[in-house]
This record gives sequence, structure tokens and C-alpha cells, in this order.
Amino acid sequence: MDNQAMPREQLGVCAEGNLHSVYLMFNANEGVESQLRPCIANVAQYIYELTDQYADSAFNGFVAIGANYWNSLYPSARPTALKPFPAMNADTRDAPALEYDLFVHIRCDRFDILHLVANEVCQMFEGLVELIDEERGFRFMDNRDLTGFVDGTENPKGRSRQEVALVGVEDEAFKGGSYVHVQKFAHNLSKWNRLPQKKQEDIVGRTKLDNIEYASEDKPLTSHIKRVNLKDADGKSMEILRQSMPYGTVKEQGLMFISTCRNSVNFEQMLKSMVHGDGHGNHDHLLHFTQALTGSSFFAPSLDFLENQAG
Ligand code: HEM
Repeated sequence: MDNQAMPREQLGVCAEGNLHSVYLMFNANEGVESQLRPCIANVAQYIYELTDQYADSAFNGFVAIGANYWNSLYPSARPTALKPFPAMNADTRDAPALEYDLFVHIRCDRFDILHLVANEVCQMFEGLVELIDEERGFRFMDNRDLTGFVDGTENPKGRSRQEVALVGVEDEAFKGGSYVHVQKFAHNLSKWNRLPQKKQEDIVGRTKLDNIEYASEDKPLTSHIKRVNLKDADGKSMEILRQSMPYGTVKEQGLMFISTCRNSVNFEQMLKSMVHGDGHGNHDHLLHFTQALTGSSFFAPSLDFLENQAG
């Protein structure tokens, strides 16, 4: 941690994985900002308190504000790196932007609690916002994506989750907050499942059943982990904390990809490397089997920020 005076973060930003999740995407009604500010602080506080109440079921969550709505809601200050979703496209690889004003992310090991809380949150927001999209995520097997590969293995662990995901002294007013990027990916599983296992493994860069990372020299330049494993100008690893979970029904299913990070550039550079590749024609071949339906950029402020702005 940067120093002792860290404001209270919203606990869902860095929480460990759960069995279930609910994603609520809202747009705000016109001119409701002065009522919405205290309401958001209340919802975030409510989620924070439930984390204790339902500790046995590992309940957690956060509220995040859309990049395009931020200035209407909090005109006096903006997180320095908050930008609209970096939409991009190359050939058939599409990462479109679809922004929302508010994102409520709740997770728990009991689905009934999540259902109850989701209803309660919507009630608290009544008259101020419209619910535009709702998805429910679930743990699939032993933390696998629906492609059958374990997802999340190389995520930061322990205290480095906070180090990676939470803004520190570099932006004092927004310390303890986090940049959140969400993409709803719909998988083409019938196409994926027709691929021989070795070809699937070459695309991910890890083995499927026992989840072993390929040796560096064996990783194809078009493999997912090769494309997202980036270093900055000083040779330091660019990291994000992934909070993704599988979602959907038989009709439409895939990965609700969620990145939390102390900056917005790490996610953007990774996505660019996946879609546009390395400048030598090597893009991420995972994108031949999945399609991003949405792309949204948010900031999840600390509880203290939300409380201070509520009045
Ligand atoms: C790693 C799946 C999208 C960033 C992985 C792994 C899998 C996976 C199976 C290997 C295990 C692990 O370390 O977690 C997927 C799927 C995606 C997707 C199915 C979408 C359909 C993305 C996107 C980004 C991203 C959009 C960032 C823009 C990463 C990172 C790693 C990773 C940083 C860790 C790489 C490493 O250090 O080895 N992903 N991913 N992923 N993914 Fe993704």
C-alpha cells in the first residue's frame, strides 16, 4: 500500500472469486443528479455492510460510475485516467463501445442472497435510473471459462490485488478507487468445440485439462497469453485484476470480462494487442471464437469519496 491513510475501498473491487454474480447496468434519468449522489452512497454502504452480514457466503460488490456520465454526476473532480471505452476494430475483430451510466456488481456464494440484494438495490434506485441490462454469472467447473480453460490463474494474489487494482498516491482525490472495464463476450462454442484440443491450447497458450503454461519458446505469437502479457517502457509487467465470470443461457453464453486496475492504460494496451496485434500480423486468435457485444468504462470510487459527495 502507498501509505496508511487509504480511504475505504469498495470491497468487491479486489475480492476473491465467488460461485455467483449479478451484473446490473443502469442509465440515469434526466436531472436526478442531486438525488442520485446520496442514493449511490447508500447503495455502496449497504453492499459494504452486507459483506459483514453475509461473510459466511463471501458476499461482496461495488458500484461504478460510467465514464460518459461522470461529469454530470460529479462535476467538481474527475479521475485523471477516466476515458470512454477504447472501442477498436480490425477485420472481423470488433471491440465496440456500449456505455452505461451506472454498474452495480454483486457476487456471493449464495444465489438467493444475490437475488434479494439485486431487487433491493433496484428499489433503492427507483425513479432515478432505468435498468438497461442484467446478467447473471456463475462459476463453471473449477474456475473455467466456457471454452473449458481455467481462467484467472495468473491474476495478482494476496495484497498485490490491491496494489494492481486501487488508485494510490498518483491521484490523491481518487485514492482507493478503481478503473473498471467490462466486455460481454458471446462465445461461438460450436465452432470452438470443433477445434482439436491441441489447437485450442495453442490459442490460449496453456494446456486445457491441467492448466500448465506453455514454455516461452512454445507460445505462439497469436496465443491469448502472449498477446496480453505486456511490459511498459521500464520493462515492468503491465497488470490488471480480472474479475470475469461465465454468464448466459444455452441461447447466448460467454464470458463477462471485467478488469479492475489503478490505471486505464493497461487494459487498453492489452485489448489493442489482442485486436490489432503486434504490428507483424499476430493478433489474438481467441477472437475468432468469441465476439464482444459490449464495451463499457467505469470508475468505482472509494466509499469515502461517495460519502463526501453525497450531501
Ligand atoms: C489470461 C481467457 C479476454 C487479459 C487468460 C487465460 C484464459 C483467458 C483462459 C489463462 C489463465 C489465466 O491466467 O487466467 C479469456 C477469455 C476472454 C479473455 C475466454 C474473452 C472471451 C481477455 C481480455 C483481456 C484479457 C479482453 C484484456 C484486455 C488477460 C490477462 C491474462 C489472461 C492479463 C493473464 C496473462 C498472463 O499473465 O499469463 N485469459 N480472456 N483477457 N487474460 Fe484473458
